[in-house]
Amino acid sequence: MNNRPTVLVTGGAGFIGSHTCLELLEHDHDVVVIDNHSNSSPGALDRVRKLAGRPLPAYEVDIRDRDALGEVFAAHRIDAVIHFAAKKAVGESMQIPLSYYDTNVGGTATLLRVMQAHDVQQLVFSSSCSIYGEAEQLPLDEQSPANPTNPYARSKWICEQMMADACTRYPDLGIIALRYFNPVGAHPSGELGEDPSGVPNNLMPYMAQVAVGRLDEVAVFGADYPTPDGTCIRDYIHVVDVADGHRLAVEHLGDETGMRVLNLGTGVGVSVLELVTAFSAASGTPLPHRIAGRRPGDVAELVADPSRVEQAWGWRTTRDLTAMCADAWRFQQLNPAGYGG
Ligand code: UFG
Repeated sequence: MNNRPTVLVTGGAGFIGSHTCLELLEHDHDVVVIDNHSNSSPGALDRVRKLAGRPLPAYEVDIRDRDALGEVFAAHRIDAVIHFAAKKAVGESMQIPLSYYDTNVGGTATLLRVMQAHDVQQLVFSSSCSIYGEAEQLPLDEQSPANPTNPYARSKWICEQMMADACTRYPDLGIIALRYFNPVGAHPSGELGEDPSGVPNNLMPYMAQVAVGRLDEVAVFGADYPTPDGTCIRDYIHVVDVADGHRLAVEHLGDETGMRVLNLGTGVGVSVLELVTAFSAASGTPLPHRIAGRRPGDVAELVADPSRVEQAWGWRTTRDLTAMCADAWRFQQLNPAGYGG
């Protein structure tokens, strides 16, 4: 037995989850993972174990399976939970909205019930800047109105409201919702990165697969937005910075009860074409790309005001766009077929 806090990470084999598990293990937390591997590989957890040199118990459990979740809580003394397990593709959520509400909202409600049954009071929730929708004013701080434009974003907003209601009713609960902007990049070792099932939905992994020759060209979804070069602007944040933010959130869960909401972003906006240029520089080859139509559900611009988290915890991002592209490219080169290769 030891006195290390034990953190249950749902969706721990996924892109952000796996980097967060490593960060926690490196900072003397014990970690238990559940994941149904619907968009992740158990191989990612083997890499985390290897990098950390520590055990990492993991269970193949769906977040909606209350009985199976309860068994994991019964088997481990869980101090806090980080909840990543969710569906996360904006475009797909327009096609299968009920599936998004089922997994994201239903899964979160199930998790809260099981936590309650096992007297676990601390939760870090994976929220999203997409809940802000089309911005009235930039950059976006946490007071900016929520105006989600697609089922994925609405599911995250509903979860935040559900958790706020739970905190009002159960005053011992402490929940931190981290609204992250666009996590990209990879662990600098090249061992951990983004390995989506099927054709990637997101721009950075798509570009990486074009650069390595798995896909032909990048389709730029819309060049007629009201931005300087006409393409959408996002606040890309290195996944290791995001993981670091989660570890810090866990360490601050005990500071106060109730619901806290914090942005995780850099405050720097980058357009799709700027990201294509930056990735081309990192990979040493110009990426073939063409302008295509807009993707339904997209908004023109999302950029964070990250000052609240800096004031609260003295935390800010430390990795720039060059590092994001270089690290994503390294992972893709070393793992051309992802974890399965
Ligand atoms: N894009 C392209 N071509 C592609 C893929 C994306 O031009 O092949 C564009 C999109 O239109 C968008 C930008 O690149 O303008 C970024 O798109 P991503 O799909 O990479 O990211 P999103 O901003 O749509 O959403 C991502 C995650 C969400 C998360 C959100 C904000 O998918 O889970 O970031 O955090 F909520």
